[in-house]
Amino acid sequence: MSSNNEQSNYIENQPTEMSGINVPRHVAVIMDGNGRWAQERGLKRMEGHIAGVESLRTTIKEARKSGVQYLTVYAFSTENWGRPSEEVNGLMSLFCKCLEQESEELNKQGVKLTFIGQRDQLDDEIRQSMEKSEKLTETNNTLNLIIAFNYSARCELTSATKKIAQLLASGKIDVEQINDQLIEQNLYTFDIPDPDLIIRTSGECRLSNFLLWQAAYAEFYFTSVLWPDFDQKCWKQAMENFSQRKRRFGLVEPKL
Ligand code: FPP
Repeated sequence: MSSNNEQSNYIENQPTEMSGINVPRHVAVIMDGNGRWAQERGLKRMEGHIAGVESLRTTIKEARKSGVQYLTVYAFSTENWGRPSEEVNGLMSLFCKCLEQESEELNKQGVKLTFIGQRDQLDDEIRQSMEKSEKLTETNNTLNLIIAFNYSARCELTSATKKIAQLLASGKIDVEQINDQLIEQNLYTFDIPDPDLIIRTSGECRLSNFLLWQAAYAEFYFTSVLWPDFDQKCWKQAMENFSQRKRRFGLVEPKL
């Protein structure tokens, strides 16, 4: 992730200008509210997750249309293992099924798929599916779709800390070389720019262990819409809202 705390980055980190509105380069989404959506309809929670897949398809399509270059979605957190086994197993099967069914289509659309999170705790079948999709789409460049699966920002930071400690212990670096850049290079997101906009649906206003380091200068957009109801109109509202934000990255706005 690129550092935002240097003067020279002020201009570099401005979002791209398209059709008169500022488009965020990187949008990250906390797709929340599937369970409530299902419960409101007297359905099982899994039905909410299944409906959520359609919202994800719409969001990918809209992100491409808007000119967003990176879209990160929070699909499963390390904390989610604590849910009832029926739901955890359901989410794992849904994820596998989606990868099998959607990878070809995403590939045709020129979408590059990347997964962030702890893979070693996942079943072989899921890991292999992830690797297959990444390999299939690795040269694509219309949209970078990053799926946070079995992700925890604290685990990510702990893992980066361990890697840096090993470099230090082996004498490959000295303490003075530990800086923002070195930490970023050791995160799961080492080659991905920081999110410009983080959207969370369902009315909850928290980060829930998502991209804690990378969110340092992100704009936040909270909507009460539940994820399965998040449609093209909701996406446009989020883009328009972002477009009006004045981002200063801790600096003062340049005089015109
Ligand atoms: C949060 O809603 C949502 C999740 C934990 C799962 C998100 C998964 C999808 C949208 C399915 C599609 C994704 C992939 C990659 C297959 P919640 O269950 O916490 O809702 P609640 O707060 O209303 O209970």
